[in-house]
Amino acid sequence: MKLDNLSTPSIILNLDALENNIKRFHGLALENNKEIWPMIKTHKSSEILKIQKDNGASGVLCGTLDECEASYKAGFENIMYAYPVSDEIAIQRIIKLSKKCNFIIRIDNFESAKLIDEKAKDENVKINYSLIINCGLNRFGIDKENTLNFLEEIKEFDNLILVGISSHPGHVYSAKVPEEVEKYVNDEVGTLKYVKKLLNSHGYNLKYISSGSTPTFLKAVKNNTINVFHPGNYVFLDAIQISLGICKEKDCALRVLASVISNPRESNFMLDAGAKCLGLDQGAHGNDSIKGHGIIIGHENALIESLSEEVGKVKDTEKKLRVGERIQIIPNHSCSTANLTNYFYAYRNNEVEKIIEVDIRGNSKKQILE
Ligand SMILES: Cc1ncc(COP(=O)(O)O)c(C=O)c1O
Repeated sequence: MKLDNLSTPSIILNLDALENNIKRFHGLALENNKEIWPMIKTHKSSEILKIQKDNGASGVLCGTLDECEASYKAGFENIMYAYPVSDEIAIQRIIKLSKKCNFIIRIDNFESAKLIDEKAKDENVKINYSLIINCGLNRFGIDKENTLNFLEEIKEFDNLILVGISSHPGHVYSAKVPEEVEKYVNDEVGTLKYVKKLLNSHGYNLKYISSGSTPTFLKAVKNNTINVFHPGNYVFLDAIQISLGICKEKDCALRVLASVISNPRESNFMLDAGAKCLGLDQGAHGNDSIKGHGIIIGHENALIESLSEEVGKVKDTEKKLRVGERIQIIPNHSCSTANLTNYFYAYRNNEVEKIIEVDIRGNSKKQILE
């Protein structure tokens, strides 16, 4: 089937770009003797998980417990969950995973550590954890100066085993130009280097120094501090990564195939793709270096100025768009776009080669009523 035969809007996936992105990032990690445990919330697909595994991913970082369980099913032995848990059902799920594989939870607070430790004692299981370090995002994490005190506070929880430290420099997305990315690499690497040295000098043995984001990866991977990397967005890339100098248009694997459906005013054109397809996300953590709601390939000067739920409004002062034309849009934030579909239509040279199911989406797993 040709791309031309797909209904619009459809979320399409350029397989050459996907495979090149995976090879580029994994290749860099492996060349630099680092492990790559990708953050898989970007694609939420078992099939793409398999491509990452086949290309050297030795573990994964997950954004949900559904992703953790799917990763175990897909054959991963090293599974890290990015956030702390405190809810009883979630704790039961992490205990189950801990019995089956090298499962690592992340912790940054006393209460959560206490709750997990109590349940782990009941079940006679040890839970591996990585301490979350705040490197500037100011979301989760202990500030670097407080790490020793915090570890001292939770020392009594002897069913918790410290295996590493982790961070995420998500504040890199507030960079406005490529030159600014380096500052965030320094935040990431510098903070983890400080904490590693501090903890080592107090007798703590850290197997994993783990962190990652797509923009900081290319520089951070060359440094010796971090030994496990967690980029996520790199599989698809998007308009935000273009704005940060990480990739070019041709590298952006995930696109929205849409049609121009009306030209109601001179330079205004309407698309059959809106917020329920592209997502309203202007980028993680407040990126404002991009204009509009995506890049229309071949019409880069046209601005997708607003989105309603099912339609988008474009200002094309050059008036090059035509009603009836099919266009491909690179979304601003591909992770959000990917979460708005059940299927990626994966193609090469305009031929749809296969349909990849987005099978690990949040709330897509039916819970059993008892
Ligand atoms: C904790 C954590 N690690 C890694 C990543 C991956 O970052 P990126 O998508 O920039 O590669 C994310 C993304 O949100 C994250 O939340």
